[in-house]
Amino acid sequence: MYKNLHDTLNSWYRDNGRHHLPWRHIDDAYKIWVSEIMLQQTQVKTVLERFYFPFLERFPTLQELAEAGEDDVLKQWEGLGYYTRARNLHATAQRCKTSLPHSVHELVQLPGIGQSTAHAIASFAYKTPVPILDANVKRILYRFFAIKECKEKELWEKAYELFDEQRPYDYNQSLMDLGSTVCMHKQPLCDICPLASGCQGKLSPLHFPTKKGKKKTPVRHKHIVIHTHNEKYALKQRQSRFLNGLWGFSEYEIEEDIQISQTLGEITQVYSHFKLQATVHLRHEYISEHEWFSLDEIRELALSKADHKALALLMD
Ligand code: ADE
Repeated sequence: MYKNLHDTLNSWYRDNGRHHLPWRHIDDAYKIWVSEIMLQQTQVKTVLERFYFPFLERFPTLQELAEAGEDDVLKQWEGLGYYTRARNLHATAQRCKTSLPHSVHELVQLPGIGQSTAHAIASFAYKTPVPILDANVKRILYRFFAIKECKEKELWEKAYELFDEQRPYDYNQSLMDLGSTVCMHKQPLCDICPLASGCQGKLSPLHFPTKKGKKKTPVRHKHIVIHTHNEKYALKQRQSRFLNGLWGFSEYEIEEDIQISQTLGEITQVYSHFKLQATVHLRHEYISEHEWFSLDEIRELALSKADHKALALLMD
């Protein structure tokens, strides 16, 4: 049905695709999986310049990742955020041990691998003819079929409808590139789009999908207290859903809890669901239920970005 459009898209991809990306044109499922997980909530540039190569250097194979400690994996993930991804990556490696399964059915049962990621791994590593449905592809489909709002299931049906089963690999990669360089969120370049001839939304692309009113990000005010004693500093490893496994200084909601301490400064950190504004304090006091580290030892721990900023104030 879309034969001509598929050909046009394929030529566009041949000439304009980001073929240089290191996770393209390889069939190592492990590397493809690592790239897909990193790219879930992070821009290509960041993954490419700071995280993909160092991670693979530290954990060159699935087996080496499986055998590593969780602290090591978190340390390597430090700065990339959304740490559940790192813990799931580790859990999946431990479950699979030496190689990832081939089938979508098995992939989707592994920690951290949703339907679209399973399809991405299957189509990129094993050339399985299945479409993907990440945020870029969703936006293209909403516009192409002029859909204002629909359920995920309906979007999957559209993903299959437009899919080029003859060239699953190139098609999926081309849609990702089209989404990030042409069918962009705020400034779609319909004049140069290879899908324009069939696109039902091209006259008013910004109407599809309907914009959801953005909720204002709530601000949380906290006090971060760096306790120090004998040139060591008190940290605790978080055991909570948020930032689980990362090390951090003490945090308090209200100033009364802090008593007399030296104020080092203010930090802010934006997370997906709130903005943290914290005052950082230094307090010369021994506290229990913490572990104590020298500055050199702290460098070996995985810390959240907020704790890194607090640490930077201490070093100022
Ligand atoms: N985002 C997710 N997977 C990707 C890929 N293979 N290339 C570019 N961006 C991506």
